[in-house]
Amino acid sequence: MFRLAHFSDPHLPSSWTPDTARDVVSKRALSRLAWRRKRSQHDPAVLALLTADVAAHAPDHIAVTGDLTNFSTPEEFERARTWLSTLGPADRVTVSPGNHDALVDRGLAARLERLRPWFGDTDGEAFPHVRRRGPVALVNLSTATPTPPALATGALGAAQLARLAAGLEAAAQAGLARVVMLHHPPVEGVVSRRKALDDAAALRAVLRDRGAELVLHGHGHESVFGALAGPVGPIPVLGAPSASSPGGRHAPAGWHAIEIEPGAGGPSIRVTVRGLDAAAGKLRELGRYVLLPLTSGIAA
Ligand SMILES: [Fe+2]
Ligand SMILES: [Fe+2]
Repeated sequence: MFRLAHFSDPHLPSSWTPDTARDVVSKRALSRLAWRRKRSQHDPAVLALLTADVAAHAPDHIAVTGDLTNFSTPEEFERARTWLSTLGPADRVTVSPGNHDALVDRGLAARLERLRPWFGDTDGEAFPHVRRRGPVALVNLSTATPTPPALATGALGAAQLARLAAGLEAAAQAGLARVVMLHHPPVEGVVSRRKALDDAAALRAVLRDRGAELVLHGHGHESVFGALAGPVGPIPVLGAPSASSPGGRHAPAGWHAIEIEPGAGGPSIRVTVRGLDAAAGKLRELGRYVLLPLTSGIAA
């Protein structure tokens, strides 16, 4: 049995302020104005409670679905590296970058390169990175792309979608449980058009054709239990709230403890949802769910 912890959108604290005229008119500065209003939505103490709770469960692997930073600055990426190192070795922690990690285009590739050890195993390989761990293939997509101010959209691109189709097929042939990770929700209607994945329909077509056993995402800062059409039945989709949210405007912080057990009729997947109990100052179990194996083809 493989134990995977999933959480998202830690939005690590930042001390960044605009310091040049170019910065002042940049997307970062506009984002900073928005952030002043939203800062109370992220509390480092809540994130510390959550990561301690995850560590206490000693998962085999941790999946973080993006928005580690707020303004995508080099200083924030250094902080993200330090923080990721506290979660465990990089080969046991996989990160899918979010829109906040790609806020501005200038120098983006070099900044994202700083997180390269957490994206996948092979140097120089493009997304999706596929990490094989026990009975599981973690198929890690990147939807992170710079956008104009006031937009928080994402995109995968045709080349990444083509590699995804091939990667899903290869993992299925190898008998692995395919867990797809991305930042933006692939299910329609979870976020507004301004925050949506531009090529979500193309992604859904690949998943409908090639299948996956589970999809994990963030970005919405809400808990999502959804489903997408697969070749033999629905593909479960889990969206995690922000891991640093004390609650209020958005859902309080929470994470998914996912147990994946291989089986003849496809893997069985059990999900325990753990969430912040603000009054008690700790996380507690909110519910347990069994995601039935569908790869063997259950009649509709
Ligand atoms: Fe976020
Ligand atoms: Fe996001």
